[in-house]
Amino acid sequence: MKILITGGCGFVGSNLAIYLKKKKFKVHSLDNLFRNGSKQNLLRLKNEGISNFKIDISLNSKIKKLPKFDLIIDACAEPSVNTYLNDIDRLFSTNLSGTLNILKKCVADNSKLIFLSTSRVYSLKYLNSLIKRKNLKKKIKPKKIFTDMKSPTIGAKSLYGFTKFASEELIKEFSYIKDLNYLINRFGVIAGPWQFGKVDQGFFSLWIWRHLTKQKLSYNGFGGNGFQIRDVIHIEDVCRLIYLQIKKINKIYNKSFIAGGGIRNALSLKDLTLISQKLTKNKIKISKNPNTSYYDVPYFVSSNKEIKKFYNWEPKKNIEEIANDIYSWQLNSFNIIKKYFN
Ligand SMILES: NC(=O)c1ccc[n+]([C@@H]2O[C@H](COP(=O)([O-])OP(=O)(O)OC[C@H]3O[C@@H](n4cnc5c(N)ncnc54)[C@H](O)[C@@H]3O)[C@@H](O)[C@H]2O)c1
Repeated sequence: MKILITGGCGFVGSNLAIYLKKKKFKVHSLDNLFRNGSKQNLLRLKNEGISNFKIDISLNSKIKKLPKFDLIIDACAEPSVNTYLNDIDRLFSTNLSGTLNILKKCVADNSKLIFLSTSRVYSLKYLNSLIKRKNLKKKIKPKKIFTDMKSPTIGAKSLYGFTKFASEELIKEFSYIKDLNYLINRFGVIAGPWQFGKVDQGFFSLWIWRHLTKQKLSYNGFGGNGFQIRDVIHIEDVCRLIYLQIKKINKIYNKSFIAGGGIRNALSLKDLTLISQKLTKNKIKISKNPNTSYYDVPYFVSSNKEIKKFYNWEPKKNIEEIANDIYSWQLNSFNIIKKYFN
């Protein structure tokens, strides 16, 4: 099977490309190398014999000239919720026109599509109702409140979430009228080696990096206490899931799933601080920024119930393993990755 991974030099795309290449698929990447660190990931792909089309996904004239693939895995996006502040045109051209171009290409070539979506497609009203803000003044234990495919998506969700949700709907339209076979996976926070984390995206790897390099951090939002909760999934568990989906793609298709770290892998920023301190043996200054941005949410834990039924899959790696893997990667690759973090 010949596979194209868009965003193939990003965190998810590069790890997935190398994983699938090891499973003997013919893998190619498409990436314009916009993201800081993508050039480094391109070198990793080259070492594995994976080539990259350096193309902007929003340019249909270029996308339609690409060779034919059996499957396109769309992992190309501007993934930060804060891009609305300064770069809305690029957000829409990458995340929405990009999806449209990939859909046209899939239809022209009769290729299947796996689309990486996000927990950000849910409405902010719903997400903000999961835990009362006033309760974030003190440490809370992750509760058994799960988000699943039935949770509400109507209403404001961030412009990033909007572009991903609109992409999901566009995929279903194409499937309906053009016979496209697709799978959509809504992932919560994904973490692991080769994620060049920033304040607004990839907090897990950023947190460990800042501890390792003894730099400052800040608890942003919800009073600045660091008690907001997320479930985190290891990139390897994501790759294993997509591999299972590819193997069953002729039997299970035209479905949307949610997948994440689940309750076992749910933690707060404060918990992550303790883990980072233990690993690096460093304590750093973490300031309090009490103001909550438009798009920060207090709590998110994915339900893996449905996806487990279909693929007999659930995440294997726990929080400690995720943190250990990131820490080992950052230590071992320190000199080549330091210029991509700040
Ligand atoms: N990382 C997460 O926690 C997470 C969670 C849920 C969903 N996702 C989704 O997974 C996918 C991958 O996310 P990621 O964390 O690897 O992000 P990433 O930023 O690391 O990777 C995206 C890649 O796309 C490339 N790119 C950006 N704009 C482009 C354009 N116009 N043309 C061609 N290439 C372009 C970037 O250079 C980068 O290499 C995204 O669709 C994202 O929405 C990620």
